[in-house]
Amino acid sequence: MRSWAEGALALVVLVGLGAALLLFSGETLGEGSTATTAPITVDPDAAVRGEIIANRTGCLACHTINGTPGSGPTWRGLAGSSRPLQSGEVVTADDVYLTNSIVAPGSEVVAGFDNLMLPDYGETLTEQEVGDLVEYIKSLAS
Ligand code: HEC
Repeated sequence: MRSWAEGALALVVLVGLGAALLLFSGETLGEGSTATTAPITVDPDAAVRGEIIANRTGCLACHTINGTPGSGPTWRGLAGSSRPLQSGEVVTADDVYLTNSIVAPGSEVVAGFDNLMLPDYGETLTEQEVGDLVEYIKSLAS
């Protein structure tokens, strides 16, 4: 007959396996899009200006900052995350990607969303304003 110790050992192994499985699936199935892959440094003054520009320009009619998607993806956790694109490509939301998404939005459309962005932010906003918006989005990375 098996001793109680063997039974207890089996239980410990099972619980351990279960915990490992949970941890593992949490990592792979969790919010993949918010996994930060690059360290993010933010210019806080520019981020404050960017917030004002985002409000003034109407970006926040389509984008939220609380993690809930609107007609556009949320900006919460966006910077540094991996972005699945309609093209099937997956890219990291670094400064270059964020800037391009604003000034040339049709070039990299996020999977699951329509190409709704105005195409001319690159002309109606100055380079500095676009940079400030990028800093604001980066300040919402976590
Ligand atoms: C009419 C709605 C709308 C407005 C207004 C709008 N966007 Fe977007 N935006 C979208 C949609 C939809 C997408 C996803 C499709 C795509 O990639 O173009 C998007 C994508 C983005 C992305 C890439 C997001 C990601 O998850 O990778 C950034 C950055 C962005 N917008 C910034 C801005 C900024 C800055 C403004 C204001 C200057 C703005 N948007 C105004 C709808 C909008």
